[in-house]
Amino acid sequence: MDDAGEIHAFGRSLRRESSVWSRGGEELFSRSSRDEDDEEALRWAALEKLPTYDRARTAVLAMPEGELKEVNVEKLGAQEKHALLQRIAWVGDDHERFLSKFKDRVDRVGIQLPTIEVRYDNLNVEAEAYVGSRGLPTILNTYANVLEGLANALHLTQNKKRKISILHNVSGIIKPHRMTLLLGPPGAGKTSLLLALAGTLPSSLKMSGDIIYNGHTMDEFVPRRSAAYVSQHDLHMAELTVRETVNFSAKCQGIGHRFDLLMELSRREKEENIKPDPEIDIYLKAAATGEQKAEVVTNHILKVLGLDICADTLVGNNMLRGISGGQKKRVTTAEMLVTPGRALFMDEISTGLDSSTTFQIVNSIRQTIHIIGGTAVIALLQPAPETYELFDDIILLSDGQVVYNGPREHVLEFFKSMGFKCPERKGVADFLQEVSVINV
Ligand SMILES: Nc1ncnc2c1ncn2[C@@H]1O[C@H](COP(=O)(O)OP(=O)(O)O)[C@@H](O)[C@H]1O
Ligand SMILES: [Mg+2]
Repeated sequence: MDDAGEIHAFGRSLRRESSVWSRGGEELFSRSSRDEDDEEALRWAALEKLPTYDRARTAVLAMPEGELKEVNVEKLGAQEKHALLQRIAWVGDDHERFLSKFKDRVDRVGIQLPTIEVRYDNLNVEAEAYVGSRGLPTILNTYANVLEGLANALHLTQNKKRKISILHNVSGIIKPHRMTLLLGPPGAGKTSLLLALAGTLPSSLKMSGDIIYNGHTMDEFVPRRSAAYVSQHDLHMAELTVRETVNFSAKCQGIGHRFDLLMELSRREKEENIKPDPEIDIYLKAAATGEQKAEVVTNHILKVLGLDICADTLVGNNMLRGISGGQKKRVTTAEMLVTPGRALFMDEISTGLDSSTTFQIVNSIRQTIHIIGGTAVIALLQPAPETYELFDDIILLSDGQVVYNGPREHVLEFFKSMGFKCPERKGVADFLQEVSVINV
């Protein structure tokens, strides 16, 4: 809570205390709070009478002066917006409570949140590249490549590009409600696998095999709307602040089906005569409609990722001093986390981060995945043992092949049966990385 909020809360408590002391006795105090509850109940009763369309846009908000007010979240005044952002600030501080309250609300009316199961079947990824002196980007080579490309297209000459196989015939399945850790030495093909799964493989790479989301192949839907790929590299506009960067991303990528969900929730709750938890109700409304929706989600994610302390600092680059390397890495993650309900594919999000920050970030992603039922594959280089334990499944890649894809509990048993025993006092993640290098 910021200063204004604290002063406001303090003021309210003073007002209450003075009324208790001036009239004496505890009974009065309880009566005054009962009055407040009564007032809130009355406001809710009035809200419930509205048609669903209006009900999904109207919230009961406590203003700084202490009075309750019905506001339309689509058309907020400056003071109302400030009060609203204050009211929902707890969401970022207590992510787990927010998730469980949200889940409770959805469960009570029997709505099932959508989940995504990703299968990859006989996946091959190949690159074609010039090797040796032809691979150098000289002026002569550039012109020669263009001419040769034309001649190849017309079948006049043979293709002189060398084929490089990056992934060989890999198959597997990624389940929702479970965190999957992607391990493998550098060059094993982690980035290529994540790009292929997210449907963002560059056109220079050739792919064969199937990637299936809930039984649908990639050409039956728009993968970019259901999958989010967090890049290994941080590419940002140096002149924007952290908040602007994340806000821009939230505005560009939209809010998904959040508003439809809110309408359905509202309709069913009215039918079954259920009063929603006001705390969660106001957040959902603020995040689903109105001008402030991107800002609400941005504030939430910035807090979850611990970026609120540098929210108004420039991102920067080599020429312009900005946020630190670890913070930049988190901004890259935040850009993708602002969009709702997706399959997350995250590439080495921990490089340059200390182990406790990595633990916190992976833990908040885990809470979301477990409670809401998302899908996540996260590639990490050398995760600390406590971070490793947060995962449910492991995919171990080595030289473009899947060495292991299954539950974390069985991985040591599997390698023991193959003759590789993990030494005592060695981290399991380090051992797996080592085993996959030996096998190359
Ligand atoms: N466009 C490309 N052209 C040629 N080789 C590539 C291309 N993309 C990836 N590779 C090669 O594929 C292998 C796997 O790369 P990558 O998926 O980035 O591995 P990782 O992320 O595990 O470090 C590497 O040997 C890399 O050199
Ligand atoms: Mg990589």
